[in-house]
Amino acid sequence: MSDSKLKAVLGWVDARFPSMKAMFKEHMSEYYAPKNFNIWYFFGSLAMLVLVIQIVSGIFLTMNYKPDGTLNAAGLPVAFASVEYIMRDVAGGWIIRYMHSTGASMFFVVIYLHMFRGLIYGSYKNPRELVWIFGSMIFLCLMAEAFMGYLLPWGQMSFWGAQVIVNLFGSIPVIGPDLAVWIRGDFNVSDITLNRFFALHVIAIPLVLIGLVVAHILALHDVGSNNPDGVEIKKLKDENGIPLDGVPFHPYYTVHDIMVCVMFLIVFSFILFFLPEMGGYFLEAPNFDPADPMKTPAHIAPVWYFTPFYAILRAVPSFLGTQVWGVLAMGAAVLLIPALPWLDRSPVKSIRYRGPYFKVMLVLFVASFIGLGILGAVPSTNTRTVVAQVLSIIYFVFFLAMPFYTKIDKDGKPPKRVTMSTLKDKIIFVVLVVVTLVAAVIFTKII
Ligand code: HEM
Repeated sequence: MSDSKLKAVLGWVDARFPSMKAMFKEHMSEYYAPKNFNIWYFFGSLAMLVLVIQIVSGIFLTMNYKPDGTLNAAGLPVAFASVEYIMRDVAGGWIIRYMHSTGASMFFVVIYLHMFRGLIYGSYKNPRELVWIFGSMIFLCLMAEAFMGYLLPWGQMSFWGAQVIVNLFGSIPVIGPDLAVWIRGDFNVSDITLNRFFALHVIAIPLVLIGLVVAHILALHDVGSNNPDGVEIKKLKDENGIPLDGVPFHPYYTVHDIMVCVMFLIVFSFILFFLPEMGGYFLEAPNFDPADPMKTPAHIAPVWYFTPFYAILRAVPSFLGTQVWGVLAMGAAVLLIPALPWLDRSPVKSIRYRGPYFKVMLVLFVASFIGLGILGAVPSTNTRTVVAQVLSIIYFVFFLAMPFYTKIDKDGKPPKRVTMSTLKDKIIFVVLVVVTLVAAVIFTKII
């Protein structure tokens, strides 16, 4: 289409729907983002990309999937058989299924890095508390979405994972047993549970998720983005009211983000074509066996993105004849995340200008989270339980002692204007990822 024709079409739309242009200006071409964004600022856009991948692949999966736990003529549960049918007989079915299963894990990779960015640059602090709260609600929804989606293939791990997790609710005093029955809709995980999890997974939670993502972005665009220096760019504006340290999101960051999305899709495709099971971490081996309520798998573990919280659950011993303490600890581990803006008392946002206490605590926190993640994936032994208990304590101390160590920390002085992102940022990012992976492998070997 020639330039003049495009202009004519846009003019036609603008005369009938002027708010579209106004929205484009407000959120893209006249949204001024700090000019010093670095590699950590890619993950929000990547999260949106993965959300789209999940919704689109999910729609196509739903065309052939059947949420039915009863047995077919061959003695296989219909739901399990429908996934096999998608993998073997539906044209392109295998790629759609792997897109969805790989997408689920990649969603959590991206989200954990996105949240970590918020942590290192203090993005949860005033005036972005609501951005963080909406983010935390998104995280909760994502966990519910992944948990319910995992039941749908109706494999051994789907069935027994759901059984274990729903039974946890049963340990809550007084209301627990009724609550577990209410969630399952039955006295055991059954066809009824599968049907309601399907309804929640394909429509109810995605709707809430999309609404929360919109609220997350709108709240962010009202207050403006934070940046690696933690400088509020809206405080210094030129005579036209444009932040001196800002650049229009479109075209500068749209181009930037498109490039990163392409790089991400290359990595994503590599996993999809060559490592879709990711050594049993993205798709667990017992889930290739149909659900059998009469046969418990030797080792039940949730998918990797839940294992840090699962390890906390297992680390807490039962007391007064109830397991509810572990459940409470696991709940608290998640619910402390939205409390961060009120736990952190330092006036400084970015890690670049934070004092040593916060830095040390952050390293310990990340180490404990990864350690717990590894421990939650393997069967427990006495030594592992003790290590998990120590790591759980570190996890909670990071949050609960935060009001104290951030208050007395020897923070530096942040600059008035942003400083430009350098090669150093990228090197730090790569080194961090490599060191973390190497440490995780060594830890796995020791434990
Ligand atoms: C579906 C999930 C999510 C999507 C699509 C999403 C999307 C985005 C986008 C596009 C941005 C702006 C670009 C950027 O700063 O990277 C952003 C910023 C932000 N997000 Fe999310 N997000 C999600 C989940 C979360 C979660 C789980 C949290 C934390 C609990 C969170 C916390 C934040 C914060 C604090 C910012 C502002 C960062 C800053 O300005 O420094 N987000 N998000």
